[in-house]
Amino acid sequence: MASSRVIVDRLHEVVGPQLIVDRDVIASYTTDWTGRFGGHTVAVVRPGSTEQVAGVVLTCRELGVALVPQGGNTGLVGGGVPLHGEVVLSLRRLQSLGPIDALAGQLTAGAGVTLSALHRAARAAGWAYGVDLASRDSATVGGMVATNAGGTHVLRYGDTRAQLLGLEAVLGTGSVVSHLGGLVKDNTGYHLPGLVCGSEGTLAVVTAARLRLVPAMPFRTVAVLAFPTVSDALDASVSFRRSLPALEACELFLSSGLELVCSVTGMRSPFSDPHPVYLLVEMADHADPTEALALATDSIDHVLDVVVATDLSRRAELWRYREAHTEAINTLGPPHKLDVTLPLGSLAEFIDRVPETVRMIAPAARTWLFGHAGDGNVHVNVSGLPPDDDQVDDGVLRLVADFGGSISAEHGIGAAKRRWLHLSRTADEIRAFRTLKRALDPDGVLNPNALLPPDGS
Ligand code: MLT
Ligand code: ZN
Repeated sequence: MASSRVIVDRLHEVVGPQLIVDRDVIASYTTDWTGRFGGHTVAVVRPGSTEQVAGVVLTCRELGVALVPQGGNTGLVGGGVPLHGEVVLSLRRLQSLGPIDALAGQLTAGAGVTLSALHRAARAAGWAYGVDLASRDSATVGGMVATNAGGTHVLRYGDTRAQLLGLEAVLGTGSVVSHLGGLVKDNTGYHLPGLVCGSEGTLAVVTAARLRLVPAMPFRTVAVLAFPTVSDALDASVSFRRSLPALEACELFLSSGLELVCSVTGMRSPFSDPHPVYLLVEMADHADPTEALALATDSIDHVLDVVVATDLSRRAELWRYREAHTEAINTLGPPHKLDVTLPLGSLAEFIDRVPETVRMIAPAARTWLFGHAGDGNVHVNVSGLPPDDDQVDDGVLRLVADFGGSISAEHGIGAAKRRWLHLSRTADEIRAFRTLKRALDPDGVLNPNALLPPDGS
């Protein structure tokens, strides 16, 4: 392999001053947001165009050096940081956005555009973007496509793959594939956007995406409902999904999570008494949906209490009780984050059994459960564990597999879950994954230490 000096010199020829070697600046690119995954690199490169991205990939290929593509560095499974000394390829400078095709309701966004900027652009044109998540101010289009980001609105609009009408990306060979026309019906062969989406930077580096927009809804209502059990809350969630076409989000959290959020943020609980389980429900429509939500709530059993908000700031406050879980848990030290989906029929039993499963393996650890009740995705966060002790991960992921669930709902496999991929994918599927990887990235330059288990394992 080439020396660090040669790597730096050759990459400097491609991106010039956008090559970073300063240790202090590099630090924010080599450690993930949770602090659990940290690595090292000889350089961070910040290309400003697709041609430069292709130049970086070609150079790395020629020198036999691996790279890790990185967007907003909001990933939670160690898939976007250089755990094995890879070059960091930051896509944040690819900021081109629009123009919006107001007839089709589509736009093309560069990989470095943040989700918040995308929301603003869509809103300004009278549309909306269907995906939303708590890290919206940092998460980028490229990262969201690479990980097929889900978030809070999946039950209504689907995941990132469902928004994706076209893609521009650089393959591991250095060639650029671009199909950004945005035709909704377009059956002309393999669907590369669908394949690259969710491939976690292992097949191609995303440089731009053609995205569909959804109608903007001028009226919104958010409610938090309290329940005695997880089962009751999940029954309510099924009932809302069945009866409310304007349902946009249905999120679950527990009394322990709310208590932690309140103690970290200084917010007061929205309820005068604590309750075991909470469901946050958001409705969005062309007319005020508050009445429809109240009627649907009346027909639900075991509701202990409800708070409702229609104005922007109170709605944001209610959302904060749910969205601040991530940062609140992080104050306890880097958590182990297991982001899993269960068949809806098993979700309540799984949530009941997880804390005991964790306790049996690590009695001093604490389990935090919250997530997207509407689509079966629960976030199992465990604090108080050493970062590299993965016995709890093993126990929980095996429990997920026993219930017929998936070991990754939305965060991806990254580095954190590679060794358990076989719990969700057959040996034949993993062989097919490797064949695709070899075809699009023959020299294994692109994120070789993420997603696929090491060869031979
Ligand atoms: C969430 O739903 O809040 C995110 O997926 C982040 C997390 O799991 O911490
Ligand atoms: Zn989530």
